[in-house]
Amino acid sequence: MEDRSLFKKFTWLKGKVVLDVACGCGGKTVYYVLNLSPNIAVGIDLDYERLKVGAVFSREKSVSNKLSFVRADAGFLPFRRDEFDMVIMNLCFEHFSNPSRVLHEGSRVLVKSGEILINFEPYLSMWGAHIAHLVPIPWCHILFSDETLVKAVKGSLRNSIVDFTDFDFNTICDFACLNQMTISKFRHIVQSSSSSLNLEYFTLLPSSFQNYPFSLLNWFTRLLVRIPFVREFFTYQVITKLKKVKESEP
Ligand SMILES: C[S@@+](CC[C@H](N)C(=O)[O-])C[C@H]1O[C@@H](n2cnc3c(N)ncnc32)[C@H](O)[C@@H]1O
Repeated sequence: MEDRSLFKKFTWLKGKVVLDVACGCGGKTVYYVLNLSPNIAVGIDLDYERLKVGAVFSREKSVSNKLSFVRADAGFLPFRRDEFDMVIMNLCFEHFSNPSRVLHEGSRVLVKSGEILINFEPYLSMWGAHIAHLVPIPWCHILFSDETLVKAVKGSLRNSIVDFTDFDFNTICDFACLNQMTISKFRHIVQSSSSSLNLEYFTLLPSSFQNYPFSLLNWFTRLLVRIPFVREFFTYQVITKLKKVKESEP
């Protein structure tokens, strides 16, 4: 699991009640229960089919007594205030149609001193279009028009085992369900959405050029992520932790 090393820094799930927001197929939620010893974990997602995959996987791994999956909208969580010690939003913040609302909800269901862990891929980054598996060109969403990219994606999908014939999308953001979250938009949302949350940890992982001929540039990206605006293009992932310092407003 690519993100495993990121979460090593955050191994304080032990004994906690954990909410994995937009958990997808729940593979990581199962991983948390198996390896990081939370008391209980709940995974929520809008996509019922993905949750069903997670439920089967959790039974296979014999962790279903500590883990449940619930179909829910992250912007309208079906939980009371103060139910969770930790809320995880792993690679999903760039997919929410109303990220401010999701952050507010995450804060509402947290106990005081509880934490929200968020990591996401900024939109202007090298692979920020989330279509690297279909169009392996860095910054393709900046270099080419939406029309060109949609054609390229449809071309790649023609050989796909999944049938996308009825799938209607006009932009890459429609296809990948992206809200074009940048680092600066994210900081703005955190600052303006809730005074109940404190930014405890914020780091930018630089992009890696290792699969490209110009791999000497790798060291350079570490410098580039320190420069405002320029960092938007050279950050692979934003990793951040927010702490609830007081009760959020209803
Ligand atoms: C890229 S997947 C991330 C899955 C998982 N967190 C992971 O790291 O493997 C994004 C997920 O966000 C979910 N999603 C998007 N908007 C949502 C919302 N408003 N409420 C709940 N889930 C949502 C999608 O259904 C999808 O499963």
